[in-house]
Amino acid sequence: MLPLFLLLCFLIPPPTVISLNQDGLSLYKFKLSMNDPDSSLSSWNDGAAHPCSWFGVTCDPTNTSVTELDLSSSNIAGPFPASILCNLTNLTTLILYNNSINNALPPEISLCRSLVHVDLAQNLLTGALPPTLSDLPNLRYLDLTGNNFSGVIPDSFANFQKLEVLSLVYNLLDGTIPASLGNITTLKMLNLSYNPFSPGRIPPELGNLANLEVMWLTQCNLVGVIPGSFGKLKKLRDLDLALNNLEGSIPSSLIEMTSLKQIELYNNSLSGELPRGMGNLTALRLVDIAMNRLSGTIPDELCRLPLESLNLYQNQFEGELPESIANSLNLYELRLFANKLTGKLPSNLGKNAPLRWVDVSNNQFSGEIPATLCENGKLEELLMIYNSFSGNIPASLGRCRSLMRVRFGFNRLSGEVPAAFWGLPHVYLLELADNSFSGSIAKTIAGAGNLSLLTLSKNNFTGPIPEEIGWLENLEEFSGNDNMFNGSLPASIVKLGQLGTLDLHNNKISGELPIGIRSWKKLNEINLANNEIGGNVPDEIGSLSVLNFLDLSNNQFSGEVPAELQNLKLNRLNMSYNHLSGELPPMLAKDMYMTSFLGNPGLCGDWNSLCNGRDEAKARGYSWLLRMIFIIATVVFVVGLVWFYSKYKNFKRSKRAIDKSRWTLMSFHKLGFGEDEILNCLDDDSVIGSGSSGKVYKVVLTSGEVVAVKKLWGGIKKEMESEDIEKGGVQDNAFDAEVETLGKIRHKNIVKLWCCCTTRDCKLLVYEYMPNGSLGDSLHGSKGGLLDWPTRYKIALDAAEGLSYLHHDCVPPIVHRDVKSNNILLDADFGARVADFGVAKVVETNGKGTKSMSVIAGSCGYIAPEYAYTLRVNEKSDIYSFGVVILELVTGRRPVEPEFGEKDLVRWVYTTLDQKGVEHVIDSRLDSCYKDDICRVLDIGLMCTSSLPINRPAMRRVVKMLQENQTKAIKKDGKLSPYYCDDASDHGSVA
Ligand SMILES: *[C@@H]1O[C@H](CO)[C@@H](O)[C@H](O)[C@H]1NC(C)=O
Ligand SMILES: *[C@@H]1O[C@H](CO)[C@@H](O)[C@H](O)[C@H]1NC(C)=O
Repeated sequence: MLPLFLLLCFLIPPPTVISLNQDGLSLYKFKLSMNDPDSSLSSWNDGAAHPCSWFGVTCDPTNTSVTELDLSSSNIAGPFPASILCNLTNLTTLILYNNSINNALPPEISLCRSLVHVDLAQNLLTGALPPTLSDLPNLRYLDLTGNNFSGVIPDSFANFQKLEVLSLVYNLLDGTIPASLGNITTLKMLNLSYNPFSPGRIPPELGNLANLEVMWLTQCNLVGVIPGSFGKLKKLRDLDLALNNLEGSIPSSLIEMTSLKQIELYNNSLSGELPRGMGNLTALRLVDIAMNRLSGTIPDELCRLPLESLNLYQNQFEGELPESIANSLNLYELRLFANKLTGKLPSNLGKNAPLRWVDVSNNQFSGEIPATLCENGKLEELLMIYNSFSGNIPASLGRCRSLMRVRFGFNRLSGEVPAAFWGLPHVYLLELADNSFSGSIAKTIAGAGNLSLLTLSKNNFTGPIPEEIGWLENLEEFSGNDNMFNGSLPASIVKLGQLGTLDLHNNKISGELPIGIRSWKKLNEINLANNEIGGNVPDEIGSLSVLNFLDLSNNQFSGEVPAELQNLKLNRLNMSYNHLSGELPPMLAKDMYMTSFLGNPGLCGDWNSLCNGRDEAKARGYSWLLRMIFIIATVVFVVGLVWFYSKYKNFKRSKRAIDKSRWTLMSFHKLGFGEDEILNCLDDDSVIGSGSSGKVYKVVLTSGEVVAVKKLWGGIKKEMESEDIEKGGVQDNAFDAEVETLGKIRHKNIVKLWCCCTTRDCKLLVYEYMPNGSLGDSLHGSKGGLLDWPTRYKIALDAAEGLSYLHHDCVPPIVHRDVKSNNILLDADFGARVADFGVAKVVETNGKGTKSMSVIAGSCGYIAPEYAYTLRVNEKSDIYSFGVVILELVTGRRPVEPEFGEKDLVRWVYTTLDQKGVEHVIDSRLDSCYKDDICRVLDIGLMCTSSLPINRPAMRRVVKMLQENQTKAIKKDGKLSPYYCDDASDHGSVA
């Protein structure tokens, strides 16, 4: 920044002191003291007599003194220049919202005596809140949201004379909420949400804030009860105490807060019944008391209020939903899931209300689905799983074109699904599983262009699967098992390029597998067991590179087992009970696959006892004897060999001193190997990498399969050496539990953990082997130039999807804690998978915020800036690290390089962009015709590495943004390619 600053000084002539008035001079000094990369202050020049026409400046018209300064979102940076600003003696309003004001807020701010309105929200201020702020005699409005202020709220804050708004949301404040805040009786708004306060009670003194209209104490680590004194807050409109640990019942004085419009108490531990008299709260519109332990019935008087949103989910409410709820004219959100509610839904629910989101899942509701739910044409989500609803799907829902998510599973619904309902254009999730639906899938399903999840399992559906299913180009999962589907699979089904799961087991499907299944590029799981499908198993099946579950058992398949099947890495292979014949391919002719081919009398392999011969009935007796002799001889030989080998190994291993007797194996997938086999292969020549937590070995198993084995030493060993063995044990259990969770994760962009072996002083993690190594090595090694942009882009998207899965789809969410290019591994096709949860911990959310970690997490250059203050790790820190990986992909540079000096890659990118432009940032090895694409991805990287955690997009959003980029790139020929390189007319200026 410094050179730019000097440049500015040089270009702008020194002020000609005579013309500008005193306030103008002060502002001019302000301008010079700040960094202004966007030249937001370019209109601030000294030609004028006064600054009143300058951008962001408002004057008192009578004497041209500056009264207001509003520079929101101007991208100016630098410390807060109190001594300069406080020379503006008549300045009443100061708005620097959303800039990069940094360093501490100086106590001298109290010299700005005239200030009434101060908005410094969304900046980079750090350090303590200056106690002198309360010396500002006229201050009414103070907003410091979204900074990095730390320490406690000063006691002096009790002394504010006129303060009406105090907002300290999203800072790093600790200590507890001081009772003395109850003295600021002028206060109308008290917003302290999302600070890492220590556990503390809500001071009952806050009930003295008789003028309070808004109180936000969300996620403030509050414990104890809601004070009864809150009944005195007669003007309170908005009360938010969500995401705390409050307990006890909701005080009956709540019903005295007669102005209350919105109440947010979700995710606490409140119990007991809702207070009587809620009908008095006539202003109440939005109620969220979800995720507590409340019981009793939902009061009728509450439902008579003209509510807009009612969230009572995850409590223990029982009884019926009062009919009166159907009369709320503005109700758009009704979420009651996971309670113990019974009876019917009001039959006219939705008739009067613009319902958008309805979730009554996991209750004991019965009766029919109200036909009026979508009367107002706004319904987007209708979730009713795990109840006892019966009857048909009302025909009116077939006209509900707004629907996006529909879950009717696990009820007693029956009859045919209305034809129009199959084809709703915006539905992406349609779940009808475990009901008694009948009839067939209507051809109208062709219209459901957004459908990605279709679950019809366990019903009485009949008829063939219509050809139109092939039109659903977004379909990712089609589960129709346990029905009575018949006919052949439609030829068009191979067009489902997004399909990951196809489960149609237990049906009556016949015919043959369609031709062209190689286009199922994303297919992970195919289960067609227990059908009547015949013909050959196509060779193409070997090209489904991500397939790991294949079950074709109990069908009529004939012919040979295709040799291409050996290309697959399957967790499950079942082709038993068909009519397969011929020789098994050698890699499948192994004991571990013994059960995979049972009941195929014509099938032969050299290992086997399954082989029932080729009609050599006569010779059988004789050959049986020969065979026995041969087998016995082989067994004796093999046993001898094994004995000798193990003796030899034991001798060799005595040096390694691994206490093998104590090994325990924990496996998560069907394994084709034992722990011994792996242990015996851990030689120094097979080391392929080593990181902070241990060495990584490449192990080729006797089955020909290759795995990567990570051997963890270090931390665990030390733990054991400490005197507190007990503690070590506990740690071990935590480790096991965690590893078990990780082992269960299955996602195409996450490296599979096959198993974990443990002894007292060493742990082995066995992963799938990734032939192309890590992204870090590929990118920064000599081969970096080989990774062209489409490959890099794909890697970014893959890794983002993996992380998004960890953050959003795992319960509880998993924070990786060490995202870096060395932990992103590349498979044979340069598909990327996220690896190494060596330091990842399962975050204990249950909504109580993130847990602090005492160990340093992360790697140099990837660590989010807030970590330095907070030592807290959460999803946002992963997102920062992922942003660094994007910057690596774009720049081709390492996160830390000597050339950057003090800076890391993130700082380097920011400054280089500022000073030299984007050409100097992009990796020169990349084809310049991709520049537009690269810039868009670079933008995403910059967003992810934003210094304020709240400005970083969630991983799910990152995936979306990356995909949007893709749609632009693939629209011409259907694959990712530099299409506009040939198209000079559109992009001539780029190339
Ligand atoms: C501030 O306003 C007062 C009252 O209008 C005026 O007398 C005084 O000169 C102003 N100060 C400046 C620096 O202009
Ligand atoms: C504030 O104004 C006074 C004159 O009124 C001047 O002497 C002083 O230098 C100014 N302070 C700053 C920091 O500009």
